[in-house]
Amino acid sequence: MAVEKDVQVSEAQIAVHWREEEFYHPPATFIAQANATDPAIFQRFSEEHFPECFKEYADLLTWDAYWHTTLDTSNPPFWKWFVGGRLNASYNCVDRHLATSRNKAALIWVPEPEDQDPRAITYQELYCRVNEFAALLRDFAGLKTGDRITFHLPMVPELPVSMLACARLGVIHSEVFGGFSGIACGERIADSASHILVTMDGYYRNGELIDHKAKADEAVAKARVLGVEVDKVLVWRRHPGQYASKSRLVRGRDFFVDELLSDYRGRVVEPVSMPAEAPLFLMYTSGTTARPKGCQHSTGGYLAYVAGTSKYYQDIHPGDTYWCLADIGWITGHSYIVYGPLALGTTSVIYEGVPTYPDPGRPWRIAERLGVTIFHTAPTTIRMLRKLGPDEPKKYRYRFKHMTTVGEPIEPEVWRWYHDIVGKGTAVIVDTWWQTENGGFLCSTLPALQPMKPGSCGPGVLGIYPVIYDENGRVVEAGSGRAGNICIRNPWPGIFQTVWGQPERFVQIYYEKYCQNKTSTDWHDWPYFAGDGALKAADGYFRILGRVDDVINVAGHRLGTKELESASLTVDEVAEAAAVPVLDELRGRAVEIYVSLKPGLAPRADFEEKVARAIETQIGKIARPKNVWIVPDMPKTRSGKIMRRVIAGISNFTDVGDTSTLANPEIVDEIRRHVQAEKVARGEVPRELSPQELAEIKAFGRVE
Ligand code: WTA
Repeated sequence: MAVEKDVQVSEAQIAVHWREEEFYHPPATFIAQANATDPAIFQRFSEEHFPECFKEYADLLTWDAYWHTTLDTSNPPFWKWFVGGRLNASYNCVDRHLATSRNKAALIWVPEPEDQDPRAITYQELYCRVNEFAALLRDFAGLKTGDRITFHLPMVPELPVSMLACARLGVIHSEVFGGFSGIACGERIADSASHILVTMDGYYRNGELIDHKAKADEAVAKARVLGVEVDKVLVWRRHPGQYASKSRLVRGRDFFVDELLSDYRGRVVEPVSMPAEAPLFLMYTSGTTARPKGCQHSTGGYLAYVAGTSKYYQDIHPGDTYWCLADIGWITGHSYIVYGPLALGTTSVIYEGVPTYPDPGRPWRIAERLGVTIFHTAPTTIRMLRKLGPDEPKKYRYRFKHMTTVGEPIEPEVWRWYHDIVGKGTAVIVDTWWQTENGGFLCSTLPALQPMKPGSCGPGVLGIYPVIYDENGRVVEAGSGRAGNICIRNPWPGIFQTVWGQPERFVQIYYEKYCQNKTSTDWHDWPYFAGDGALKAADGYFRILGRVDDVINVAGHRLGTKELESASLTVDEVAEAAAVPVLDELRGRAVEIYVSLKPGLAPRADFEEKVARAIETQIGKIARPKNVWIVPDMPKTRSGKIMRRVIAGISNFTDVGDTSTLANPEIVDEIRRHVQAEKVARGEVPRELSPQELAEIKAFGRVE
């Protein structure tokens, strides 16, 4: 899409000044036990050893056949890793651990209700469940290698069991975050042409048993409208034998998995030996258009990358109890709850519910009870726990050696609370920057070898060579104080293979911007454009500023402005809609929607609620806007494009920039007066923005 012509100088390139934070060094107790302590590792992964350096990651796996070509660049940017190699992901995460760790916990599941005891699932038990469900998927659901299947599952052990059962068969799973609406699930079913949906009757959230099966009916209906028929809906039950949903089963379509499984007791399914390049799963994410992108991840490259980064950056040892609080419905959960930790044979904790339920001491009680050693969460959760229970961690005797933050920039003062209070000053922290598309971490610190710096994620991880380019493809130098677009110069094994069904978008979105020579088969000509603004300090540490495209990061969840806007447009009265980010003390960013009404309609208070509802129904509760503003008209360019940058400035009380080139400049003041007066009345005036937040708001809507 065309870049806004009115903006001559890229807003993200303006100089950003702030105080550099001090380094924190890892404690000796951590270094003494860490997986990576010899600085020679940096040499092994230096550019001169690329791509062969990644053999070190691939060698963490068990291969049925070794690869002959580490990296095939013959069809850029569709890179192929470990070509000729064969393996099975389920075998690598389950079977191969049986010999040494049969009765060790693979998963510990913590139900949300505190009176329900945590449940350990040993590697042996996981093996049995995965095999039985794989047999069911193959023999009852008729799934074959290469077919797609959609899951709409909450945080229950049945989700990793379902994933690993598919991996065993070479069936491509596509998990849709449980909090997404039925309609959003249906769109993803249709896009991936899945004919089987796996769901659950209900799950606990904030003390309530949520009816989840109802969403499956909406999903099937939506997929049908989009031309894809779901043949079977497999329903796990939260309490086997008891049905927790009001939605009726459709005869011949819907089945209770616990009932079907009785026919598959003790069944064993040979893991299918898959080519390294076979797709393992799809993970949908938001971008600049209304249609979500199905990021296709590979089997060999992906699994090698998550195993390697889990070992060195998460410092996972087989004896650790590792707890990542992310939802498995997001990439973090796939890579760093399921595939990475299980490939390494550790114990991975899954918590069903809300971290602050029934009180903000809950995570620390869980950590103490289970003896968690590694803890992994997002800034939003840290902010929330800090606000609601700043002294809670002190009341519990858990001791973390290692903690991770992921998904959003973390404010230095929040980082320090995480370090001093949650980590009790003795845990290292890794701030990991990466994306759904990437499979695993891109920038972070190697915890025993590189010091931490609050608010900065760190340098590129092993074998990743990042660079910041300006809009014209010139390198923005470290220490220049200027921001630009962070790119990765090289391919890596965890990078997604394509956008499902839309290879042209894959090339266009991620590679077109900085590719100098489209006929080149040399990877140096194909930098990966991440879509984030960033700065590189003189010490080589990156500070991520946020998205430069039309994506709003709410509590670590990516929401596309176009998705939000098209959901708003499903409301009859709405003529135009624009979504912008607004600073939020807890969730990082929240969404505000501006709508104008169809001619002749007067604003009514209930329209606002209608728009908010439409967004919940079309996308999910996480996308519910903080405010909906009904405005007489949108600020527009002469060519009729809505200026989101101007609206974002109004919502955040910042300078809206030059409006003289607008077709209707007078509207800006009118909207500002109305919206800001209302916000003042509601007590929603934001604190003064930091320079980097200001840069983000100014740059919003720049790439279109
Ligand atoms: C943002 C989540 C700052 C970034 C793994 C990225 C971060 C988007 C960090 C990807 C971090 C992720 N510091 N920002 N440590 N990690 N982001 O696809 O804008 O859900 O592009 O993947 O989150 O979100 P996604």
